[in-house]
Amino acid sequence: MSLKGKDILSAFDFEREDLERLFKLADQLRTEISERGVLDYAKGKIMLTAFFEPSTRTKLSFQFAMEKLGGRVINFDVSTSSVLKGESDVDTMKILDGYDPDVIVIRQKIPFFPHRVKDIVKAPIINAGDGPNEHPTQALLDLYTIWRELGKIDGLKIGIMGDLKYGRTPSSLSYMLTRFNNVTIYYIAPEQIQIRDEILEKIEGKVKYVKVGRPEDVIEELDVLYVTRLQKERFSNPEEYERLKGAYKIDKEFLSKFKHIPIIMHPLPRVWELDPSVDELPQAKYFEQARNGMFARAALIKEVLGI
Ligand code: CP
Repeated sequence: MSLKGKDILSAFDFEREDLERLFKLADQLRTEISERGVLDYAKGKIMLTAFFEPSTRTKLSFQFAMEKLGGRVINFDVSTSSVLKGESDVDTMKILDGYDPDVIVIRQKIPFFPHRVKDIVKAPIINAGDGPNEHPTQALLDLYTIWRELGKIDGLKIGIMGDLKYGRTPSSLSYMLTRFNNVTIYYIAPEQIQIRDEILEKIEGKVKYVKVGRPEDVIEELDVLYVTRLQKERFSNPEEYERLKGAYKIDKEFLSKFKHIPIIMHPLPRVWELDPSVDELPQAKYFEQARNGMFARAALIKEVLGI
C-alpha cells in the first residue's frame, strides 16, 4: 500500500512491505541522483521544514532530499519568528499550513506535538523527532543502513547502547524492528538510563529483547552495535548527567579486545561516548548512515507526495 498523503508520526506507521519498498526506492534514487544530479519528480512541490529544536542531519538531509527530487524547500526559522513574541507553536503551524505546503516536516521538543497538530493542518506531516518520544525517519535510515550493510534484518542481534531512557532513536528503532522476524534487541545501559517500560510494553511479544549492563558482556554476539548519546538537554538534574557521563564509552582500544566486532552505528551527533579512534575501523558505519538518511528521506518524500 502506498504512503501517499499519510502522516508519518511513528515507526509503527510503516509495515514491513512499506520498509522493503522504501529501501529499494532509496537505492534507485541514489543511482538516479548520482547519474543525473537533480531529478524532476517533485517539480512544482514545496516542502516546509519547521524545526523548533536544533538539528543538522535531519533538517539538512530532508532539505537536500527535496532539492534533489526537484522540489522546493521553505524553512521556518524559529529563532527569527514571532514565536519569540509569544505566538504559540500550534498557531504557528496553522499559519504555515495556510500557505499550502505539500508536506510539512516537524521537529519539536514537546512529545506528541506532531500528533496534536495533524488534524488542524491540511498537509501531510512527517515527525522529525518529538522530544524523547520518537524519531521514525531516523529508524528508517538506520534499518536502510543495516539492510545495505548486512543484506537482511531478519535474524539479526542488535545492541542498542547508551541513553535508552531519554533518547528517541532507541524507541523508534525498537518499534521498527518489530516488523522483522527473529530479531533480538540487547538494551545496553546502566539501570538509571535503561529503556522505558512504556516502550517495552509496545514491543512485548513482537520482538525478543534482553537488558544488559555492560557492552563487553554481549559485544561478540552482536551483528550491530548502535551507540547513542546521553541526552544532556533532557536531564533536569545536571548532577545526574555528570554521574552518568563516562559510564559507557566505545573506543578503538576497547573494541580491539574482541575477536568479533559488529558494525558500529550511531544516529549522531556524538560527544564522548564514541571516540573518533573508531572511525578508522571498517566496522564504523555512522557517517555512511548519516548520508543514507538523504536517500531514505527522498524515498519517503516521494511516496508521501505520491509522485
Ligand atoms: N540524528 C539526528 O537526528 O541528528 P540531528 O539532531 O542533527 O538532526
